[in-house]
This record gives sequence, structure tokens and C-alpha cells, in this order.
Amino acid sequence: MVNWVFVTKTSEVPENGGKAFPVNDRMIAIFHDQGAYFALDDFCPHQGASLAAGWIHDGCVACPWHAWRFALKDGTWMDNPKIRTEHYALELRGEDIFVELPPDQEPAIDAS
Ligand code: FES
Repeated sequence: MVNWVFVTKTSEVPENGGKAFPVNDRMIAIFHDQGAYFALDDFCPHQGASLAAGWIHDGCVACPWHAWRFALKDGTWMDNPKIRTEHYALELRGEDIFVELPPDQEPAIDAS
């Protein structure tokens, strides 16, 4: 079963920036980069900073604490591709942003 969960409206995410939203038991960072939207876990795997507070450049978000860079498209750490932060499939439905949660997560709102 696919768990698509509503997160926010596109108008809530600044262009060339990000914002974190609580979704069930986690924080998900939504980024807006050059007209495209991406969803990553908001928790930096280094020391836990909010990635949504980072800055976007060249398809990556740089963590605001120590500048580790993660690819927006899949969460890969640019200095070591074996490490990544969790990435979520994202779907736009008009102005609404939905993300797909892992199968073990029950959706807060059943969007299907
Ligand atoms: S906490 Fe993100 S790079 Fe250190």
C-alpha cells in the first residue's frame, strides 16, 4: 500500500530555500529549487541540524552547521555517496505537496 501524505502548500516553501514540517513522527524538509520541489529527512546525519535551514546551491542543500552537502534529488552526501539522508518521493497535486512515507508508516491523512 502506498502512503501518500499531505505535507503543505507550495506557497509555504520559499523559492531557493526549504522549510521543515512535522509528518507523523518525523520532520520532513521540503525544498524549492528552480521550480522543482524535493523532500528529505530534516535531520542532518552528522550532528542533527535542521537541513531545512541550510542553503541551496547546484542541486544540493548545505547543512547550516558544518556545510555537509546533500543532493536534493536523492539525499546523497556529496563527499561520500555511500551515506545519505532519507529521501521521500514527492508529488504535486495542484498547489498541494504530498510525500510518500515508508510502508511501515500509517498516513496521518489517507490521500488515496
Ligand atoms: S550537523 Fe550537519 S554537517 Fe554537522
